[in-house]
Amino acid sequence: MTTCFIEATDRLSIPLVLVSKDNLDAWFETQPASVSQWLKTSDFKAKPYTYCLIPDEAGHIKMVVIGIKHAEDPWGLGFCAAKLPAGVYHIAEIFGESLSAKHKQRLSLSWILGAYHFDVYREKKERHLATLLVPKEVDMAALEAMQASYTLVRDLINLPAEDANPAELAKRSLNIAKEFKASSAHEITGDTLLKKNLGAIHAVGRASIHAPRLVEFMWGEVSHPRLVLVGKGVSFDSGGLDLKTASGMALMKKDMGGAALALGLARLIMHHRLPVHLHVLLPLVENAVSNNSYRPGDVIKMHKGLTVEVSNTDAEGRLILADALSYAHGQGKADLIMDFATLTGAARVAVGTEVPAFFTPDESIASQLMAASESTQEMLWRLPLYEGYENYLESPIADLKNASSESYAGAITAALFLQHFVSPDTPWLHIDFMGWNVRTRPGRPEGGEAQGLQALFHFVSERYAG
Ligand code: BES
Ligand code: ZN
Ligand code: ZN
Repeated sequence: MTTCFIEATDRLSIPLVLVSKDNLDAWFETQPASVSQWLKTSDFKAKPYTYCLIPDEAGHIKMVVIGIKHAEDPWGLGFCAAKLPAGVYHIAEIFGESLSAKHKQRLSLSWILGAYHFDVYREKKERHLATLLVPKEVDMAALEAMQASYTLVRDLINLPAEDANPAELAKRSLNIAKEFKASSAHEITGDTLLKKNLGAIHAVGRASIHAPRLVEFMWGEVSHPRLVLVGKGVSFDSGGLDLKTASGMALMKKDMGGAALALGLARLIMHHRLPVHLHVLLPLVENAVSNNSYRPGDVIKMHKGLTVEVSNTDAEGRLILADALSYAHGQGKADLIMDFATLTGAARVAVGTEVPAFFTPDESIASQLMAASESTQEMLWRLPLYEGYENYLESPIADLKNASSESYAGAITAALFLQHFVSPDTPWLHIDFMGWNVRTRPGRPEGGEAQGLQALFHFVSERYAG
């Protein structure tokens, strides 16, 4: 774990003064002329995510002035770890505004998340040496748990497909299960998938030298409401025989982001010991090309009993999720099933790379998730399960086909496909997200990302509070 933050003690550290544009002139008034002149000389305008170092007479840093949007900007200190000179810092004040414990927590988290970098393959490890003394009111254990989950998800996504193949992903998932003393932790691998009627997971993954599998574990008291987390774990999505283009394939090591996010959320739930009976299901496959690939036109007998005509081998995620979703129903009544997937390019066309799309037929789940999204300031947006597009999934020879014949509404038809495998009386939430920062923003370095993690954890915590 990156030790970029330490708990506040009485040690000498450099004060950070947070100032918004609107308060800058008023703050100047409170400062000696040399300081305000220095800020003017440096052309410091308190633009968010900019800073100015103020030296003392000996040439050491006396303080750092930081531009901030407002006290509640959740990413306010997200740039600091990577940008500030080596040293130990503490939040002194946000000028003219008050900082609640919640905002201190969030600002500290932004610093920590911005300190992440993926250097597993670098000989020379980079270390950010700007360290934050976390304010006393901050819940250090919660902060560390959040950091651990983000790091887990980001690392898993950033790992190259060769090193995060289905077997390796299973190993790492089962290690987490073991760490939290989960029960029934196991995997169903290779031909055993066929014996358990998990034919879709087998068909999608069978072409790879890395055998397909379904990882499963449970945690918590059986008497608590059962919460099922399902995550799309495609270690690499070449598209299969309906091969992707080079640019379409470039980022496809991230196609296991759903499994990574499910695991990251599970880790938080277990760490905080939420009163749920947790059930994690991760179908892990590589969508590869070989003489053994599943083909366009093949018909797959699904776990649920339905048949699906493969109209496109690149619509593989919904096939493996469908089997995992109906498998989840075989284990008794669930209070809620949530699935996470880097499922469609169409969802990205609709809401872009930074906003996860969600689907649920349940109005109260939708409003609870939107409330969690607002409270954590993590944007998610609902798309409709519009029945009118159901006929796009009709096959002339099977009960369904996996890819719509229409090029429009691809995120919706993918969600409608999944809905066939969830029983109508089981509350269900489906998240279609990018799993990747295409650009660096404060606290969110380019690369694998646990998008929505805080909102989702907040949603789950509220739903099962007490
Ligand atoms: N993994 C992709 C979806 C994806 C692509 C997510 C790019 C994020 C960015 C998925 O398996 C896929 O290929 N979906 C196809 C479905 C189509 C063939 C019906 C898509 O979205 O084009
Ligand atoms: Zn695909
Ligand atoms: Zn995919």
